[in-house]
Amino acid sequence: MNIATDVVERDGREGRAMARSGKPPEASWTGRVPEMGTGLVSYEDSISPEFYELEREAIFRRAWLNVGRVEQLPRKGSFFTKDLGVARTSLILTRGLDDRVRAFHNVCRHRGNKLLWGETPREETRGTCREFMCKYHGWRYGLDGALKFVLQEEEYFDFDKAEFPLVPVHCEVWEGFVFVNLADEPSQSLPEFLGPMVRGLEGYPFHLVTERYAFKADILSNWKIFLDAFQEYYHASILHSQQQVPALRSFQTGFKVPHFQMDGPHRLVSTGGWKGVPRHLTPPHEMYPIEHVTEAGLMGPWERPDIPELDPVNLPAGLNPGGLDPWSISNFQIFPNFVILVYERGWYLTYQYWPTSPNTHTWEMSYYFPPSRNASERIRHEVTAVVSKEAGLQDAGTLDGTQLGLESRVIDAYPLSDQEVTVRHLHKVVGDWVRSYLRDEQGVPA
Ligand code: FES
Ligand SMILES: [Fe+2]
Repeated sequence: MNIATDVVERDGREGRAMARSGKPPEASWTGRVPEMGTGLVSYEDSISPEFYELEREAIFRRAWLNVGRVEQLPRKGSFFTKDLGVARTSLILTRGLDDRVRAFHNVCRHRGNKLLWGETPREETRGTCREFMCKYHGWRYGLDGALKFVLQEEEYFDFDKAEFPLVPVHCEVWEGFVFVNLADEPSQSLPEFLGPMVRGLEGYPFHLVTERYAFKADILSNWKIFLDAFQEYYHASILHSQQQVPALRSFQTGFKVPHFQMDGPHRLVSTGGWKGVPRHLTPPHEMYPIEHVTEAGLMGPWERPDIPELDPVNLPAGLNPGGLDPWSISNFQIFPNFVILVYERGWYLTYQYWPTSPNTHTWEMSYYFPPSRNASERIRHEVTAVVSKEAGLQDAGTLDGTQLGLESRVIDAYPLSDQEVTVRHLHKVVGDWVRSYLRDEQGVPA
């Protein structure tokens, strides 16, 4: 079979089918980014070891990467390490005596030892200190990276400590999210990189939603395959059939996302909500008993917190740019590997997908709520975090199967519907970044 010809023919049939059904171009989410086309898509980018090596340089050493939030650096001297195997480095994030958040490569200037680690060199760590001391020969660095102490300094030759600071990494904070960029000179500032759609989140009271529950999982798939699983809702009625909420009841016959948006390398998916509170709408047998008892679950605590800043009428318009009414979730897919989901019920979550090989990655989940004011709020937060994690692990459970199927290479191009526009967009953007890297750095013609 000539796959190339087959793709063209099938494209043609799809095009005619769309015309016959009279689907207007403005209703096609995919049509809004015409250069994506509507053809079959290859996932070679998710199974090829060679492509993975290119991604490491083209994407993870060039894009702005979220590594956490300012609440993880609560006071002067707070620090945490972030191991970025995909970029072949480990970082130290710290808040200096001047309150500034900085990032450094986690490498001692003496003989290259990793400076900070947990129980073993491959474990991350965090804490509070005034100086970082190397475990090998005791060189010490200030929170601003300056080399402060060298054991037997007089034994060195023409030595000036000022010439041996920790190697800094570009670090910027946006709405409390700490981003780094490993390029020598980033081609865009962080606000330029985020662009207007993601910056529509500015003004959301992240600083009031700081009670955090965090989990990590090692996943047996390429990082993009899991991103794909969270950026479309086509799978939800099937994969999450045990987790029903009123707004998603139509999952039984196929739920359609009412608003997608693409801006630069980023994507947004918004879903509609419901009128009323779940206790009146969901029969107890359609939820876990703990959800019914605590009045909290997949969509969050059923009652929105009584905090004016979290009332939807006070939230930034950019959070729900489709103007959905009712509205329930906006899912910001921030290139390359960072996701923020903001829920109408007054909480949000983040996901990060850190590649560890062509077909494995580490998935990090963080769930954020306004600080609990009593035990029942705390329990509702914990139930929400655990039920949401359960849904995420249902997604994770299929990924090994998807990876195995793709790696069989029995099929080399797959169809994507208009409801999977975000999947098409991610793979297009990843390809674009790799091509532009090859062109800029290696002179490969586009
Ligand atoms: S390698 Fe760090 S002090 Fe020697
Ligand atoms: Fe899912």
